[in-house]
This record gives sequence, structure tokens and C-alpha cells, in this order.
Amino acid sequence: MRRQMHMASARTRALSRRPVLYSALAAGLTVGLAGPMVAGNDAPVPVPAVSDADFHHDGAPREAMVALGRALFFDKILSGNRNISCATCHHPAHASGDGVSLTLGEGAAGLGPERAAGPDQPVLGRVPRNSQALFNVGAREFVRMLHDGRVELDTTGSLPSGFWTPAREQLPPGLDSALAAQALFPVLSNVEMAGHQGENEIADAIAVNRLGGPDGAWDLLAQRLRAIPDYVALFSAAYPEIEGPDGITYVHAANAIAAFETVAFRADASPFDLYLRDPDANPLPEAAERGMALFYGEAGCAACHSGSLQTDQGFHAIAMPQIGPGKGDGADDSYWRETGFQRRLEDFGRYRVTFDPADLYHFRTPSLRNVALTGPWGHAGAYATLEAVVRHHLDPIAALEAYDIDQAVLLPAATVIERSGTGSELRFGPVNPARRADHALRDGWVQQTAALRQQIADASELPARDLSDAQVADLIAFLHALTDPTSRELDHLVPATVPSGLPVAD
Ligand code: HEC
Ligand code: HEC
Repeated sequence: MRRQMHMASARTRALSRRPVLYSALAAGLTVGLAGPMVAGNDAPVPVPAVSDADFHHDGAPREAMVALGRALFFDKILSGNRNISCATCHHPAHASGDGVSLTLGEGAAGLGPERAAGPDQPVLGRVPRNSQALFNVGAREFVRMLHDGRVELDTTGSLPSGFWTPAREQLPPGLDSALAAQALFPVLSNVEMAGHQGENEIADAIAVNRLGGPDGAWDLLAQRLRAIPDYVALFSAAYPEIEGPDGITYVHAANAIAAFETVAFRADASPFDLYLRDPDANPLPEAAERGMALFYGEAGCAACHSGSLQTDQGFHAIAMPQIGPGKGDGADDSYWRETGFQRRLEDFGRYRVTFDPADLYHFRTPSLRNVALTGPWGHAGAYATLEAVVRHHLDPIAALEAYDIDQAVLLPAATVIERSGTGSELRFGPVNPARRADHALRDGWVQQTAALRQQIADASELPARDLSDAQVADLIAFLHALTDPTSRELDHLVPATVPSGLPVAD
């Protein structure tokens, strides 16, 4: 009801603000069902089927690389305090994500919705964005990684590494892909894997921006690996050219992790994939077929969710609610004035990379393979049901206005560490219990602040669209037809042990 009350005015606003884009989207309506025909069948196929050639290493990296990458992906040795692995946030049991809106990174304990921070597990705060699922990230078309694309293939030849990343010139050469380059960054994030200055040698190197080169953060991680005989054996098998432990670098590790991700999280056996390969032999269930026609037609979804993996690999603003600590963007200091905590809470998305005002609040269009498995949805995990995130698209501004943070899956964070002072006065200590409530206000601050909500609404380029409940149900049936059944059960990916001997349970 509340949604409908907002609808008319929000639609008028959306239309008047972005007339040009609206017509672009309207044009998108007609492209959908005009795709290539399959011989002997007059059912239109909206996009080409995915094949091996679409993936790095043509979908078949050397097995020894995959084996090494798997060990590293599950090994906490890559975190400063040896207490979190890539898999903690990208776990097979949670569809290569973690099943929560915004996870708690290094310091916390437990997996997925069971994860928590307590007196013995202090954290630096919530991770500001939803852990992305890794399905099909090994596809070559992923040239800009993360919600804002800040790890990006450089086609201009300006950087020796071949990639634009936050590490700029410090990024080492030799990385196979943007996916491999991405694996250099979680280990640098204090809140995700590194821990804070003063706790370990990795965090200390990061604090002085010593990332590349000897004794830089990545070399310190490689030093840990060189000291473990089982890793030396795995690296030698994966890279015959490495001569002894000294040849091991973090670049080798990153390329291996990418090889593992490419194989482990490939998902192209959904009913939709089978349909694309042979529509005659593999018709979709009727509701899903109607949903597909809507998706590539009247509902306009394919204007952004285009291509075989249902993403244009571009960035769009669709007024997605932002919850949690954000990325520290913007000029709004209302939270600081109200609570005294030094923190700006906005997340400007793609603008953080390009500084182009037209990119404010733009986030990368997610691929929709396996989307039914990968909730919560949205860059900050604001929506806990697939239906809610689909309905958001039908009237984005009204949905933003009506958003209720109670639906978010936010883990208990009883003990949060705050940084105070600078230089020799730098301290890290638990937030005063009497101030915890003020601290927690940050989770919903942007949503509750009308001016900040308005900025998100103003940037939106997605017009409202009238669809009946039956049409929404059909769209959702189509989204379910994007689930690869082999992705439902990925436990076989979890190794019993890892070379460091550290526990793999979470
Ligand atoms: C504490 C949780 C956490 C840990 C640990 C973590 N990630 Fe992530 N991962 C995230 C979040 C959150 C994002 C989205 C971040 C953003 O957009 O700023 C992400 C994004 C990614 C992406 C981008 C996917 C895409 O579609 O662009 C890849 C790939 C990835 N992670 C791989 C890894 C690897 C490899 C490791 C270990 C070296 C790792 N992650 C460790 C939380 C985590
Ligand atoms: C204007 C471009 C655009 C159009 C049109 C569009 N989407 Fe999206 N969609 C996005 C972007 C961008 C996101 C991620 C936004 C964010 O997280 O801030 C998204 C997110 C989603 C998600 C959540 C995915 C996830 O992993 O969190 C679903 C599901 C989805 N869209 C389905 C649809 C459907 C169904 C339609 C048609 C009714 C549609 N989209 C139309 C751009 C678009």
C-alpha cells in the first residue's frame, strides 16, 4: 500500500528528470526478442549461449594452478592476523557469498549469518558493501571488478601492470586478468583481512603504503607461503618455471586464485543456459518463458542486464538503498555532529573511481546467473528477498523512500574497535559501551537522512514501470530459471585441511 501511494509522484519525477535515458531504456524494449534464431526453431533466443571460450584459460586452467588456488582461497594464512580467508566471505555453503547484508571481516568468528563479533572477537566495523557472489567471474567479459569497478583492465597502456587499481604504480606486472588483480586487494583491507596497524607486519606495511616491492605487503604474504613446504610443492607444480621457494610471489598466488575461481564458480548449466543451447530440446517452464519475454521485452530489464550473463558490465544508478558504514564519501557530516564519531557515511559508487558527477551512486550491473541463491541483494545487501529487489526496480524512488532497514541481515557487533589520534598518538580501542548505541546509528543513517536519500533518488536513471503481480511472478520464475543446479551444492570445494594447518571451518 505504502509503495503504491508514492508511485504516481515518483514516476513523474523519474520521467521528468531523465528524459534522454528513459527513451534509451524504451528503445531497449525492442531489442530483446530480436536475437538470432536457432535453425529448425522459430523460438527467438535472446542472447548467445555461454561457452568455454568465454572464460579465462578457455575454461580449463592447468589443474595444478586450480589446486594451488583452492588451497589459498580457503587458507587464513593470507590474512594479517591469520583469522579469515577469502572463503569466509565467499563460501560454498552460501553460494560464494556469505548470506548476510554486510559481513564482519577479520576479528569476528563464525560463518554466514552465524558470524558475530564479541568481547574476544573485536572488529573494525562492518564491511561497507555486500560480499559479491563469484559465479562466472572467470568470464573474460568481467574486465572491471567489484561493485564500483575500481580494479579494471587498462586498455590505454598507461600502467606497466596493465590494470587500473587503487594501488596505481605499485601493482606488480604479470597478472593474468582483472580477476587475478582483484585478489591483491582483500588482503590490503584492514576491515576485511589485514587487521589494524600495530597488530601484524602486513597491516604495518599497509599503513605506510608499502604494498609492492621487497617487504611490501604482498611480499610479506609471499614470505609466509615460502616458509611452508606444502605450499612450495604446490607452487612448483603449478608453475614449473619457479626455482625453489624464492621464486614464489604473490602474483603467482593471485593468478592461481583466479584460476580456481574460474573453475569452481562457473555456472552455465541453468535451465536458461540449456534453453539457449537448444530451445527445442530444453523449453523453459511456461511461467519462466513468459518471464523471459518480459525481461527481454516490456519490463526493460535487458537495457542493463544485457548479454549472455545478463550484465552490460556497465554502471547504473537505480536508487538502491544504502545501509551500513558506507565508504566515507561526501560532504555530509551530520552523523559526526550528532554522535561525535568521525565518519562520513555515503557510498558514491562508480564516482569514487572516475570523479565524474554523472557516475554518482552508479554501481556495476550484477550478472543474474544464480541470483535466486545470492541474497541479500543490492550493493549493501539492503533487500532480503528476491521479490523485494525486483519490486524495487518497478518504482525505485518510492521503494527507496519506503525502505525499512529491519529487513537487512546485520550481524551482532558487540565489540567494535575505533581508531583515534594520529602519528605517535595513534590508538585503537574498543568503543565505549555507553556510546555503542550512537555508533550503531550509522547503519541506518543515510536512509534516515532525507537530504542524503534525495541525492540517491536524484541520481536514479531507472524509470518506474507498471507491471501486474502476475507479471512480477513470471519475472521471478525466469530469475529462478537462471539457477545452475550444480551451484546449489558446492561443499565438495571445501578442503579438509590447508597447507598452513590453520582451521578451515569459517
Ligand atoms: C571480509 C569479507 C571478504 C573477504 C575476506 C574477501 N572478500 Fe571478496 N568481496 C567482499 C566484498 C564486500 C566485495 C565487494 C567489495 C566492493 O565492491 O567494494 C568482494 C568482491 C570480490 C570480488 C569481485 C567480484 C566481482 O563480481 O567483481 C572477487 C573476485 C572477490 N571478492 C574475491 C576475493 C578473494 C580472492 C579473496 C581472498 C584473497 C576475498 N575476496 C576476500 C568481501 C570479502
Ligand atoms: C538501468 C539499469 C537497470 C535496469 C533497466 C534493470 N536493472 Fe536490475 N540492477 C541494476 C543495477 C545497477 C543493479 C545493482 C544496483 C546496486 O546494487 O546498487 C541491479 C540489481 C538487480 C538485482 C539484484 C542483483 C544482486 O545480485 O544484488 C536483480 C535481481 C535485478 N537487478 C533484476 C532486474 C530485473 C528483473 C529488471 C527488470 C524489471 C532489472 N533488474 C532492470 C540495473 C538495472
